Amino acid sequence: MSILLTGGAGFIGSHTAVELINAGYDVVIVDNLSNSNEKVLNRIKTITGKYPKFYKIDVSVAEDLCKVFNENNITGVIHFAGFKCVPESTKIPLKYYRNNLDTTLSLLEVMNKYNCTAIVFSSSATVYGDKNPVPFKENMPVGGATNAYGRTKLMIEDILTDVAVASTDFSAVLLRYFNPIGAHPSGLIGEAPDGIPNNLMPYVTQTAVGVREFLTIYGTDYNTHDGTGVRDYIHVVDLARGHVAAIKYATEHTGVEAINLGTGNGSSVWDVVHAFEKANNIQIPVVIGKRRPGDIDECYASVDKAAKLLGWRAELTLEDMCKDSWNWQKKNPKGYED
Ligand code: UD1
Repeated sequence: MSILLTGGAGFIGSHTAVELINAGYDVVIVDNLSNSNEKVLNRIKTITGKYPKFYKIDVSVAEDLCKVFNENNITGVIHFAGFKCVPESTKIPLKYYRNNLDTTLSLLEVMNKYNCTAIVFSSSATVYGDKNPVPFKENMPVGGATNAYGRTKLMIEDILTDVAVASTDFSAVLLRYFNPIGAHPSGLIGEAPDGIPNNLMPYVTQTAVGVREFLTIYGTDYNTHDGTGVRDYIHVVDLARGHVAAIKYATEHTGVEAINLGTGNGSSVWDVVHAFEKANNIQIPVVIGKRRPGDIDECYASVDKAAKLLGWRAELTLEDMCKDSWNWQKKNPKGYED
């Protein structure tokens, strides 16, 4: 009995593979390595003592996926595979719709063929849009995503919901991630953005290591305690453990559930910069810039549903996230490149 991780060589997938193996699951990773590195597999082996079974395939190619289902007894799927660069999705929307939807549709057709009925999907807090009050609760209306990436997440949530309504033995857990940062405490796996990072923490760590000259803070006139944007940063190891609880839930229930994975705490950009400086005894050069289009004042989770349904809560602190992000960056200044 194995759990299939599509896009399992990526940042969140690799951490989830580690936590699943630690919890006693057999893990099969499929990944086309379009935004990840095969070296991650050896690192997972170093951490857990087990090399995950790996197929370098594209999830949208159903025949290749069938081979994986033929050769393994897949009892549940965690679907990470997908493009995730927000600015790119605005410039090349068709690339995002084609890839993110094709991978999901092929996967669901193949799961149906092999009678695999449990899926956990990597959704995003971006589905709450900019009209809801914080904290975001799972029963709030979704929609109003400001970019094509966010809309693919919404569309896939709808597709999975339709499938769950149509087949009563189907189970889907839609995990709405807040802002995953940090890295495995070993420093062996972590986030390795391709090119200039879009997200805050990789930009902070690349500035600390000297790859970037300074961090630009995107606006100090937000309606928040210090004027900078507030987000719910969650340690990727906590997030990964949330997936272990979610796949257990999905294999034991039917129907569809959207569940937030966050800490419930909001931290501003200044809070993150100061926490990073304090935790690691490092100064981050900062420049104040303009607002980034599409950014909202505040985004943090209501965490009660995850606690109630999954018995899961985030445990690690912002200090842990800052220390582990820096530990990973220091040990791997160029990510997985030599
Ligand atoms: C972003 C995406 C979101 C996606 C998520 C995935 C946008 C508008 N939103 O969320 O759809 O699901 O990443 O990880 O791109 N900041 C700076 N300077 C920087 C980078 C960020 O000040 O160089 C600020 C931002 O204005 C924001 C906060 O840091 O207030 C967090 O930004 P980021 O890490 O990009 O995450 P989100 O915008 O929450």
